[in-house]
Amino acid sequence: MESIKVFAPATVANVGCGYDILGFALEGYGDELILTERQDDQLVIKTIQGVAELPLDPTKNVSTVTISALLEDLKLNKGFDLKIKKNIAAGSGLGSSASSAAAAAYAVNEFLGGPISSEELIKFAMEGERIASTKAHADNVAPSILGGFTVVRSYDPLDVFNIPYPEDLRVVIIFPQVEVKTSDAKKIIKEQVKLSDAIKQWGNVAGLVSGLILHDFERIGKSLQDVVIEPVRSYLIPLYQEMKTIALNVGALGFSISGSGPSMFCFVRDTSESSLIIERAKELYGKNGIDVISFVSGINNMGAKTLD
Ligand code: HSE
Repeated sequence: MESIKVFAPATVANVGCGYDILGFALEGYGDELILTERQDDQLVIKTIQGVAELPLDPTKNVSTVTISALLEDLKLNKGFDLKIKKNIAAGSGLGSSASSAAAAAYAVNEFLGGPISSEELIKFAMEGERIASTKAHADNVAPSILGGFTVVRSYDPLDVFNIPYPEDLRVVIIFPQVEVKTSDAKKIIKEQVKLSDAIKQWGNVAGLVSGLILHDFERIGKSLQDVVIEPVRSYLIPLYQEMKTIALNVGALGFSISGSGPSMFCFVRDTSESSLIIERAKELYGKNGIDVISFVSGINNMGAKTLD
């Protein structure tokens, strides 16, 4: 039986001002998938390690839904056994479902000898996202497949690309141990945006992208502001404003919600700042009786990859 083992990284989507369009991949944190060819055309999830209560039904699991979409497009009758190892909690805001979808799309494509480009794989992984969060957004699956920092310029037609970023940019993730379902966090967003808010948001998206490309850290920090989504969603995250104030006082370059939360993120340049933010997060959540996982990461420029 032929098998392939792959890894797809966790991601930070939205990146403050870029709801549903900006995202980047994290280092060393993500999902693994072993795909083994079957003699029939069934998709069978053999095991899911690391996270309880994910569906084994192939019509409901993001990995198998992604693979079905891809095989259907290629008009291939193939079957696979899947063993999934999740290192990202569902409902964390770190692209847990996207990691599984990206790993599935990447694994099948590699197994088949790479008939589909990495950019095109995104649309199949988006079908997995649709199952998980009711909307086929690409801002997690794109960086999980492509790596680096990605922009979804358009959904129809899909147009996704990488942008350069400063290699010494570091991100601190603060993940209070509560669950926020993306589907719930999407429901509370207002359909209408005030023009004055839209103008601020457009300015910040342009500023953030330009700051990343030009390695202008001050501009990155100034642009990491979200006047559309954060005011609504931050209420779902315990102690959000307190944590934000602490991080900005320590010197973080902006602070925002990672994806739909509850994870939060900020950019830093300096390891002393990241250590201090992690320490203060432990103190803040500890004294309020909430467990928190915090870590510092670079931006993963590789994306999904085959493991030995
Ligand atoms: N853009 C999506 C959202 C990302 O904010 O709902 C979910 O991780």
